[in-house]
Amino acid sequence: LAAEKGGYRHFMLKEIHEQPTALRDTIAGTLTEGEHAVCLDDLRLSDRELASFERIYIIACGTSWHAAMVGKYLIEKHCRIPVEVDIASEFRYRNPVITQETLLIAISQSGETADTLGALREGRARGARGIAICNVVGSSMDREADGIIFTHAGPEIGVASTKAFVTQLAALYLFTIRLSQTLDTIDRGERRTMIADLVRLPSLVEEVLGLGSLIEEIAHDLLKARDVLYLARGINYPIALEGALKLKEISYIHAEGYAAGEMKHGPIALIDEGVPVVMLVTRDHSYEKVLANMEEVIARGGRVIGLCTEGDKEVRSRATATIELPAAGPDLMPILLAVPLQLLAYHVAVLKGTDVDQPRNLAKSVTVE
Ligand code: G6P
Repeated sequence: LAAEKGGYRHFMLKEIHEQPTALRDTIAGTLTEGEHAVCLDDLRLSDRELASFERIYIIACGTSWHAAMVGKYLIEKHCRIPVEVDIASEFRYRNPVITQETLLIAISQSGETADTLGALREGRARGARGIAICNVVGSSMDREADGIIFTHAGPEIGVASTKAFVTQLAALYLFTIRLSQTLDTIDRGERRTMIADLVRLPSLVEEVLGLGSLIEEIAHDLLKARDVLYLARGINYPIALEGALKLKEISYIHAEGYAAGEMKHGPIALIDEGVPVVMLVTRDHSYEKVLANMEEVIARGGRVIGLCTEGDKEVRSRATATIELPAAGPDLMPILLAVPLQLLAYHVAVLKGTDVDQPRNLAKSVTVE
């Protein structure tokens, strides 16, 4: 077993460190025309079909559902098609509006999650085209979907998903570019930049992995917390949800992710010295607003752990602790932000002595309803 962990103490830590490779493997073979365009052979949808969709549903459970939420931001921004994201167990029983012009995207690491598979079947039975973003060749979703985008994360053993998640985000980014090529919604120059940003990303993730010991130190700060809040806006908002889920899953500390703009409608009532607040503050169009939210937290005695881009003095001067990340393309920041949040949850769990790879009551793949 020790050998399987490749010298790491846990599978989860090994898998966190495999993320640069997982991303490279997922991107490999998808770029054409001298890395100026994306081709996804296994999608099995013609340009005519791709151009016909009027609505997209992205359906998933757990961590994959957080990837789905990022997908909505990406596709709506770049392809201008309305995207609805739903939890599979809700979608399959709520009589959703589906027409021939509907595309359903199921996201699943295992390709076997009962609710996601059920939602895919339901959607296809009602006339939607249904594709899957999946990590397991030969899985039920691979066999049943009209088309597929494989994430090449390799086997994921840790119950809490890490490398599968970041490759799902990369797959959604690739799909967004592919769809935009058909719809002509991104100009060539921007497309090249987006692709170049993606190619550069794995080495940025490597840089972020170098922050391990800083994050381990910060983890001590969360040990005694009753609750932890994670706040962000825009495309980073789903990463706040994912960061909170990681902490819950493996450290058993109650954590909640929230859209920073919603803080004033509830969670602000929780804030005091006992509730650390993790805030994702990157240099995008909502930067000033998240910074203002940070001031509100601090004014109420909250301790902020700020994740920001390198050299951000605004965040550094306000937060109790900062984790500074290199700047990736704006739509790729979710991937960079996910990594330190995985490490933070990991180190808190190790300090608490929980069973990191096999947290209580959780299963790697939920194949029953
Ligand atoms: C379980 C796992 C999660 C995973 C979810 C969905 O709850 O513990 O890590 O995100 O299932 O799994 P899937 O294989 O469909 O992505």
